[in-house]
Amino acid sequence: MWTHRHLLGVESLSAADIDAVLDRAETWHALCRRTEKKSTVLKGRTIINVFFEASTRTRTSFEAAGKRLGADVVNVSSSGSSVTKGETLLDTAKNLEAMRADALVVRHASSGAIDFLASRIRASIINAGDGAHEHPTQALLDAFTIRRSKGRLEGLVVAICGDIAHSRVARSNAILLGRKGAMVRLTAPRTMLPAHAETLGPTVRVMPRFEDAVRDADVVMMLRIQNERLAGAMMSTTREYSRTYGLGPVALAKAKPDAIVMHPGPINRGVELDPHVADGNKSVILDQVEAGVAVRMAVLDLLLTGGNHTPSDALSSRP
Ligand code: CP
Repeated sequence: MWTHRHLLGVESLSAADIDAVLDRAETWHALCRRTEKKSTVLKGRTIINVFFEASTRTRTSFEAAGKRLGADVVNVSSSGSSVTKGETLLDTAKNLEAMRADALVVRHASSGAIDFLASRIRASIINAGDGAHEHPTQALLDAFTIRRSKGRLEGLVVAICGDIAHSRVARSNAILLGRKGAMVRLTAPRTMLPAHAETLGPTVRVMPRFEDAVRDADVVMMLRIQNERLAGAMMSTTREYSRTYGLGPVALAKAKPDAIVMHPGPINRGVELDPHVADGNKSVILDQVEAGVAVRMAVLDLLLTGGNHTPSDALSSRP
C-alpha cells in the first residue's frame, strides 16, 4: 500500500516503498520503449515543475514523465518568474497551488526548502533536489538501473566517489542503498567528506583511499565537484584531484570484472571521469537517464493515484 502524499527524500521511504517504486517503474520503462509512449493514468491532472536551479535531466524527465502519463505539465524557472521581483518561495508555491496544481516538482538551492513547502501546501510536493540534502528520484533511478543490471541490490558493493560533502545524490544513494542491504563505500579527499558520513546507514563505510574503495566493487558511482557550492576551494588543483580521485581505465581495473560505472550527470569529462570510461562498455550512464523517465512516472503515478490500478491496466489505458 502506498501512503505518501509527498516525496521529500528517501529518508522517509521504507524498503517496501522503494520496491513499490522500482516495480512500478518496470511497467513504465516498458511503455517508454514502445513507439506510442502514452497512458491516460494521470489524464486531467496538472503537474508544475518549479526549478530554482539549473537542470537538464531532472526537469526534462519529469516533464516527459507527466506527459507520458497523460497529465498537463507546466514549467516554471526562477529566471523567468516573479522570484526575480522579490516574491518568496512560499508565495510562489501558493500561487501555483491556487491554479489547482495537483503536484509541484521543486528544485531549490537551500537544503530543507522542499520540506518547508510540504508542511504548508496541499498539493503533492516532490523534491527534485534541495541543496546538499536529498535528490530522492536520482537515488531511485540509480537503484532501478543497478537492479536491472545486477538483478538485485542486496549484498552489492557500491563505491561512491567524489564531492560527497556537497552531494545530495550521494546522501540519498547512501541512505537508499543501505536500506536495501547494499554495502556502501564513500571516498573523497578529506575536505569533501561530511562529518559523521557513516551515520547515513549501517552499511556505509568511509574509505579515504580511492583505490581501496574501488577494489572489488560491483558498482562505481562517480560524482561531479559541486563548484556552485564552492567545492572548488576544497581541493588543491583540478589536475591533482583528477589524478587522485578521477576514474580512468587503470583505477577501474581494480573493480570487479563485471562492474558498472555510474554518474548522475552532468559529467565534467577529464576531471572525475576519463572520457574512455564515460563512453566505455561498463558505463550505464545513459541507462540511468532512460530510467529517470520511468522512475519519475512511477513516482507521479504512486503519489497521485496511490497506485490503485494494476500495471496491465496502466499499459492498456493508452488513448
Ligand atoms: N542528475 C541531475 O540531477 O541532473 P540535472 O541537474 O541535469 O537535473
